[in-house]
Amino acid sequence: MPDKFTSLSAELYGYVVDHRSERDPVLAALARETEGLGGLALMQIAPEQGAFMTLLARLMGARRAIEIGTFTGYSALCIARGLPDDGYLLCCDVSEEWTAIGRRYWAQAGIAHKIDLRLGPALDTLRALAPEPRFDLAFIDADKANYRNYYEEALTRLRPNGVVLFDNVLWMGQILDAASRDENTRALQALNDFLVTDARVETVMLPIADGLTLARKRAVGERG
Ligand SMILES: C[S@@+](CC[C@H](N)C(=O)[O-])C[C@H]1O[C@@H](n2cnc3c(N)ncnc32)[C@H](O)[C@@H]1O
Repeated sequence: MPDKFTSLSAELYGYVVDHRSERDPVLAALARETEGLGGLALMQIAPEQGAFMTLLARLMGARRAIEIGTFTGYSALCIARGLPDDGYLLCCDVSEEWTAIGRRYWAQAGIAHKIDLRLGPALDTLRALAPEPRFDLAFIDADKANYRNYYEEALTRLRPNGVVLFDNVLWMGQILDAASRDENTRALQALNDFLVTDARVETVMLPIADGLTLARKRAVGERG
Protein backbone atom coordinates (compact mmCIF):
# COMPACT_ATOMS: atom_id res chain seq x y z
CA MET A 1 0.00 0.00 0.00
CA PRO A 2 1.45 3.42 -0.90
CA ASP A 3 2.12 5.92 1.88
CA LYS A 4 -0.94 8.05 2.35
CA PHE A 5 -0.08 11.11 4.35
CA THR A 6 0.79 14.72 3.75
CA SER A 7 3.88 16.15 5.43
CA LEU A 8 3.02 19.57 6.79
CA SER A 9 5.22 22.51 5.82
CA ALA A 10 4.77 25.65 7.92
CA GLU A 11 2.69 27.06 5.08
CA LEU A 12 0.46 24.01 4.86
CA TYR A 13 0.05 23.96 8.64
CA GLY A 14 -1.03 27.62 8.50
CA TYR A 15 -3.60 26.61 5.89
CA VAL A 16 -4.98 23.92 8.24
CA VAL A 17 -5.17 26.38 11.13
CA ASP A 18 -6.92 28.96 8.95
CA HIS A 19 -9.53 26.48 7.79
CA ARG A 20 -11.35 25.93 11.04
CA SER A 21 -14.64 27.67 11.61
CA GLU A 22 -13.96 28.56 15.24
CA ARG A 23 -13.11 32.28 15.50
CA ASP A 24 -13.29 33.11 19.17
CA PRO A 25 -11.83 36.54 20.03
CA VAL A 26 -11.51 35.53 23.72
CA LEU A 27 -9.44 32.47 22.80
CA ALA A 28 -7.29 34.59 20.49
CA ALA A 29 -6.71 37.16 23.26
CA LEU A 30 -5.81 34.39 25.72
CA ALA A 31 -3.31 32.95 23.23
CA ARG A 32 -1.76 36.43 22.77
CA GLU A 33 -1.37 36.94 26.53
CA THR A 34 0.14 33.46 26.90
CA GLU A 35 2.66 34.29 24.15
CA GLY A 36 3.90 36.99 26.51
CA LEU A 37 5.19 34.21 28.79
CA GLY A 38 7.83 33.39 26.15
CA GLY A 39 8.86 29.77 25.55
CA LEU A 40 6.36 28.53 28.12
CA ALA A 41 3.63 29.34 25.62
CA LEU A 42 4.59 26.17 23.76
CA MET A 43 2.75 24.29 26.49
CA GLN A 44 -0.56 25.61 25.18
CA ILE A 45 -2.45 23.32 22.83
CA ALA A 46 -2.59 24.31 19.15
CA PRO A 47 -5.61 26.21 17.77
CA GLU A 48 -6.80 23.44 15.45
CA GLN A 49 -6.52 20.98 18.34
CA GLY A 50 -8.65 23.25 20.48
CA ALA A 51 -11.27 23.47 17.73
CA PHE A 52 -11.20 19.69 17.43
CA MET A 53 -11.67 19.20 21.17
CA THR A 54 -14.66 21.57 21.23
CA LEU A 55 -16.19 19.69 18.32
CA LEU A 56 -15.50 16.30 19.92
CA ALA A 57 -17.14 17.34 23.21
CA ARG A 58 -20.20 18.50 21.26
CA LEU A 59 -20.31 15.37 19.07
CA MET A 60 -20.18 13.16 22.17
CA GLY A 61 -22.85 15.17 23.92
CA ALA A 62 -20.36 15.43 26.79
CA ARG A 63 -21.72 16.99 29.97
CA ARG A 64 -18.92 16.24 32.44
CA ALA A 65 -15.22 16.45 31.69
CA ILE A 66 -11.86 16.40 33.49
CA GLU A 67 -8.76 18.26 32.42
CA ILE A 68 -5.36 17.37 33.88
CA GLY A 69 -2.96 20.23 33.14
CA THR A 70 -4.66 23.58 32.66
CA PHE A 71 -1.80 26.14 32.42
CA THR A 72 -3.35 29.45 31.26
CA GLY A 73 -6.70 27.91 30.45
CA TYR A 74 -6.79 27.62 26.65
CA SER A 75 -7.71 23.93 26.40
CA ALA A 76 -10.13 24.31 29.32
CA LEU A 77 -11.91 27.08 27.44
CA CYS A 78 -12.10 24.87 24.34
CA ILE A 79 -13.54 21.92 26.27
CA ALA A 80 -15.94 24.07 28.29
CA ARG A 81 -17.26 25.68 25.09
CA GLY A 82 -18.22 22.19 23.90
CA LEU A 83 -20.24 21.41 27.04
CA PRO A 84 -23.83 22.50 27.56
CA ASP A 85 -24.56 25.51 29.76
CA ASP A 86 -25.06 23.27 32.79
CA GLY A 87 -21.98 21.19 31.93
CA TYR A 88 -19.09 20.63 34.34
CA LEU A 89 -15.34 20.71 33.74
CA LEU A 90 -12.98 19.75 36.57
CA CYS A 91 -9.58 21.37 35.95
CA CYS A 92 -6.47 20.14 37.77
CA ASP A 93 -3.25 22.12 38.00
CA VAL A 94 -0.61 23.10 40.54
CA SER A 95 -0.05 26.67 39.39
CA GLU A 96 -2.05 29.48 40.96
CA GLU A 97 -0.20 32.00 38.78
CA TRP A 98 -0.89 30.45 35.38
CA THR A 99 -4.46 29.39 36.08
CA ALA A 100 -5.28 32.91 37.35
CA ILE A 101 -4.79 34.04 33.74
CA GLY A 102 -7.26 31.39 32.62
CA ARG A 103 -9.85 32.44 35.18
CA ARG A 104 -9.97 35.95 33.70
CA TYR A 105 -10.61 34.66 30.19
CA TRP A 106 -13.13 32.04 31.33
CA ALA A 107 -15.10 34.87 32.92
CA GLN A 108 -14.88 36.97 29.74
CA ALA A 109 -16.04 34.00 27.68
CA GLY A 110 -19.03 33.42 29.95
CA ILE A 111 -18.09 29.82 30.72
CA ALA A 112 -16.53 30.25 34.19
CA HIS A 113 -19.63 28.75 35.85
CA LYS A 114 -18.88 25.39 34.16
CA ILE A 115 -15.30 25.17 35.52
CA ASP A 116 -14.22 23.81 38.89
CA LEU A 117 -10.47 24.52 39.19
CA ARG A 118 -8.65 22.48 41.84
CA LEU A 119 -5.10 23.48 42.68
CA GLY A 120 -2.81 20.70 43.89
CA PRO A 121 -1.18 17.56 42.51
CA ALA A 122 -3.67 16.13 40.02
CA LEU A 123 -3.30 12.58 41.31
CA ASP A 124 -4.50 13.69 44.75
CA THR A 125 -7.46 15.52 43.20
CA LEU A 126 -8.44 12.54 41.06
CA ARG A 127 -8.07 9.98 43.86
CA ALA A 128 -10.30 12.10 46.11
CA LEU A 129 -13.17 12.02 43.57
CA ALA A 130 -16.23 9.93 44.29
CA PRO A 131 -16.74 7.03 41.85
CA GLU A 132 -20.01 8.63 40.70
CA PRO A 133 -21.17 10.62 38.83
CA ARG A 134 -19.08 9.44 35.92
CA PHE A 135 -17.29 11.64 33.40
CA ASP A 136 -17.74 11.65 29.62
CA LEU A 137 -14.39 13.07 28.58
CA ALA A 138 -10.90 13.40 30.07
CA PHE A 139 -7.96 15.37 28.67
CA ILE A 140 -4.48 14.54 29.96
CA ASP A 141 -1.82 17.23 29.42
CA ALA A 142 0.30 17.53 32.58
CA ASP A 143 3.57 15.88 33.74
CA LYS A 144 4.32 13.07 31.28
CA ALA A 145 5.70 10.63 33.86
CA ASN A 146 2.25 10.47 35.45
CA TYR A 147 0.19 10.04 32.27
CA ARG A 148 -0.34 6.34 32.97
CA ASN A 149 -1.46 7.08 36.54
CA TYR A 150 -3.82 9.80 35.33
CA TYR A 151 -5.20 7.39 32.75
CA GLU A 152 -6.00 4.73 35.34
CA GLU A 153 -7.71 7.22 37.63
CA ALA A 154 -9.66 8.82 34.79
CA LEU A 155 -10.68 5.54 33.16
CA THR A 156 -12.35 4.15 36.29
CA ARG A 157 -14.42 7.34 36.49
CA LEU A 158 -15.38 7.40 32.82
CA ARG A 159 -18.72 6.15 31.47
CA PRO A 160 -18.68 3.43 28.80
CA ASN A 161 -18.08 5.14 25.42
CA GLY A 162 -16.39 8.01 27.24
CA VAL A 163 -13.09 9.18 25.78
CA VAL A 164 -9.65 9.88 27.25
CA LEU A 165 -7.47 12.26 25.22
CA PHE A 166 -3.69 12.23 25.63
CA ASP A 167 -1.68 15.20 24.40
CA ASN A 168 1.93 15.22 23.12
CA VAL A 169 2.01 11.55 22.18
CA LEU A 170 4.49 12.23 19.34
CA TRP A 171 6.71 14.31 21.65
CA MET A 172 8.01 16.43 18.78
CA GLY A 173 9.22 13.29 17.02
CA GLN A 174 11.37 12.15 19.95
CA ILE A 175 8.91 9.31 20.46
CA LEU A 176 10.86 7.41 17.78
CA ASP A 177 14.13 7.59 19.73
CA ALA A 178 14.21 4.05 21.11
CA ALA A 179 17.53 4.70 22.87
CA SER A 180 16.29 7.81 24.67
CA ARG A 181 17.14 8.09 28.35
CA ASP A 182 14.82 11.03 28.85
CA GLU A 183 12.24 10.17 31.50
CA ASN A 184 9.38 11.94 29.70
CA THR A 185 10.16 10.33 26.36
CA ARG A 186 10.33 6.90 27.94
CA ALA A 187 7.07 7.42 29.82
CA LEU A 188 5.27 8.42 26.63
CA GLN A 189 6.76 5.51 24.67
CA ALA A 190 5.65 3.06 27.36
CA LEU A 191 2.18 4.59 27.48
CA ASN A 192 1.70 4.53 23.69
CA ASP A 193 2.79 0.88 23.55
CA PHE A 194 0.57 -0.04 26.47
CA LEU A 195 -2.58 1.63 25.14
CA VAL A 196 -2.70 -0.46 21.97
CA THR A 197 -2.70 -3.63 24.10
CA ASP A 198 -5.27 -2.38 26.61
CA ALA A 199 -8.51 -4.27 25.94
CA ARG A 200 -10.50 -1.76 28.00
CA VAL A 201 -10.24 0.86 25.27
CA GLU A 202 -10.28 1.39 21.52
CA THR A 203 -7.59 3.86 20.51
CA VAL A 204 -6.44 5.94 17.60
CA MET A 205 -3.49 8.32 17.46
CA LEU A 206 -4.06 11.51 15.47
CA PRO A 207 -1.09 13.44 14.05
CA ILE A 208 -2.71 16.71 15.08
CA ALA A 209 -0.34 19.26 16.64
CA ASP A 210 2.13 17.24 18.79
CA GLY A 211 0.02 14.07 18.52
CA LEU A 212 -3.29 13.37 20.22
CA THR A 213 -4.49 9.89 21.19
CA LEU A 214 -8.19 9.18 21.61
CA ALA A 215 -9.04 6.19 23.78
CA ARG A 216 -12.72 5.21 23.91
CA LYS A 217 -13.75 3.16 26.91
CA ARG A 218 -15.42 -0.04 25.76
CA ALA A 219 -18.73 -1.11 27.21
CA VAL A 220 -18.74 -4.22 29.44
CA GLY A 221 -18.93 -7.30 27.22
CA GLU A 222 -18.23 -5.31 24.05
CA ARG A 223 -16.43 -7.24 21.33
CA GLY A 224 -13.50 -5.64 19.58
C1 LIG B 1 1.39 21.45 29.03
S1 LIG B 1 0.75 22.43 30.33
C2 LIG B 1 -0.99 22.35 30.05
C3 LIG B 1 -1.40 23.18 28.87
C4 LIG B 1 -2.89 23.42 28.78
N1 LIG B 1 -3.60 22.19 28.57
C5 LIG B 1 -3.20 24.41 27.68
O1 LIG B 1 -3.67 24.00 26.61
O2 LIG B 1 -2.92 25.60 27.84
C6 LIG B 1 0.98 21.38 31.72
C7 LIG B 1 0.39 21.89 33.02
O3 LIG B 1 0.43 20.80 33.94
C8 LIG B 1 0.62 21.34 35.23
N2 LIG B 1 1.15 20.28 36.09
C9 LIG B 1 2.39 19.74 36.10
N3 LIG B 1 2.49 18.79 37.03
C10 LIG B 1 1.28 18.69 37.62
C11 LIG B 1 0.74 17.88 38.65
N4 LIG B 1 1.48 16.95 39.27
N5 LIG B 1 -0.54 18.08 39.00
C12 LIG B 1 -1.32 19.00 38.37
N6 LIG B 1 -0.85 19.79 37.38
C13 LIG B 1 0.42 19.65 37.02
C14 LIG B 1 1.56 22.52 35.02
O4 LIG B 1 1.43 23.46 36.08
C15 LIG B 1 1.11 23.06 33.67
O5 LIG B 1 0.23 24.13 33.84
